[in-house]
Amino acid sequence: MTASGFSIRRGAVRWSLRRAVTGLLLFGLCATAAAQELPRLIRAQDRYALLVDGAPYTVLAAQLHNSSAWPAVLPGALDQVVALHANTVEAPVYWEQFEPSPGRYDTTNLDALIAQARQRDLRVALLWFGSWKNGQMHYVPEWIKRDAATYPRALDERGQPTEVLSPHASANLEADQRAFSALMAHLRKIDGQRHTVILVQVENEPGAIGTVRDHGAAANAAFAQSVPAAITARLGKPAGTWQQVFGPDAEEAFNAYATAHYIEQVAAAGKQAYPLPMYVNTWLRYKGKKYPGLDYPSGGATVNMFELWRAASPSIDFIGTDIYTNDYNEYTKVIGQYARADNPAWVSETGFEPGTAPYLFHVLGQGGIGFSVFGVDGADSPEKEAASAAHAANFGLLAPMQRILAKAAFEGRLQAVAEQPGQPRRTLRFGDWEVRVSYGAPAWGDADPILPGNSDHAGRLLVVQTAPEQFLLTGFAARAELARVADDGRHGQLLRVEQGRYQDGQWRFERLLNGDQTDYGLNFGREDPPVLRVTVGTY
Ligand code: DGJ
Repeated sequence: MTASGFSIRRGAVRWSLRRAVTGLLLFGLCATAAAQELPRLIRAQDRYALLVDGAPYTVLAAQLHNSSAWPAVLPGALDQVVALHANTVEAPVYWEQFEPSPGRYDTTNLDALIAQARQRDLRVALLWFGSWKNGQMHYVPEWIKRDAATYPRALDERGQPTEVLSPHASANLEADQRAFSALMAHLRKIDGQRHTVILVQVENEPGAIGTVRDHGAAANAAFAQSVPAAITARLGKPAGTWQQVFGPDAEEAFNAYATAHYIEQVAAAGKQAYPLPMYVNTWLRYKGKKYPGLDYPSGGATVNMFELWRAASPSIDFIGTDIYTNDYNEYTKVIGQYARADNPAWVSETGFEPGTAPYLFHVLGQGGIGFSVFGVDGADSPEKEAASAAHAANFGLLAPMQRILAKAAFEGRLQAVAEQPGQPRRTLRFGDWEVRVSYGAPAWGDADPILPGNSDHAGRLLVVQTAPEQFLLTGFAARAELARVADDGRHGQLLRVEQGRYQDGQWRFERLLNGDQTDYGLNFGREDPPVLRVTVGTY
């Protein structure tokens, strides 16, 4: 070996070492920069992504029961979230616990939640149970409940106090703002680098149960005034009083504005301390319910008040839906109402039952940023076991590939469907290709021309286009056939069907499928279905 050869090689070694070290440093820096990047919602045209650590993230969440975010019961509850394969836990912070006396903040619960979520590698959507919880004020501190003179309640039309704080009293607003800001400031301190908490829900199902609007003196005076110009302008309505502008819906609209405006100020104060993405959740006006204050909290972000809410609460990044049905028409109707150019689909709560599991696919297919099942902790029962099995199967399949799904959805490359009763076939179009989805075919072999569908309508399928002629497919109780539909005389063919799975975002190849496993379509069973990576071509 010549000296120069040696030195060249030594130089090369030094150079590659330098490159490796620089690369590692850069990687480290980028990783740190990504970790330090605040979670945020981004929008391109009418598509959305929630960025977590700098990349799109699908929220596959489970919400704890209302009284489970206490250190004594939290470990068991969080273990049940982990068992579901959720990547995010939705858990409340209770105002009554957080501020036991005016201006004294107790962070015990919050600190425990974050520490224990981290131990389990869970992200957190923090639910601020403040002035509103299910259209009432049950989570405000005792010192507020006892002092209605300082912290007035909404009065009903007979002048009787309700169990809702008045949204027209500055003492109420200021107290909530102060507490929420303190919460967000503490969060920034303990989580501002790590971002275990990725979302904050401001209040819970706001609006009023027991009255359509507050009838206190301040509220009555405001009701006689004109609708704020910013609202009429945004809604494209002429100026006028609430009665003139909204007619029979005036009281509900008035309360929606008062509620949204109050929450806007709470959220804005919180964001000043720590600007995480914030949303509200909605007790829906659905299932034939139509009486505000009775059927649902008056003044929440229900579909009839949606525009008004968006106009009145710019600090709220998006509006979520609490969907407690497994009826296909009702479920998909609600998703359609809230998945809009100005709002991403986001199921902030849904019933923890097997029947809601297929709708995760529907939500993702509508560009949704996430989905959360409610009340996953607690005692075992056959019902709970069935619900856990269905949702754990979903989350277990999708969580390891959630980043791929979120990115594809944001880029318009993802389509997904849930089985509609009575409709055993669906077609998804991707450029020159169609994915023909059917339900009720055998695991392999010819299907009956008249397909029965699944008796429990549990079919669901998701397709991501990864290249013009490459697709990822996965689902449950469904068959998928790929067909080329371009009108150029060429035929489509399957070139390669890889079966595998994602593990922490990495593809793990298991085997190639062919013969009976592809000649009768690509079939997805109910138990532990795979992910297929399919390359197609023409001849
Ligand atoms: C919706 C609420 O937002 C939750 O906190 C909980 O009360 C559920 N309803 C119970 O069904």
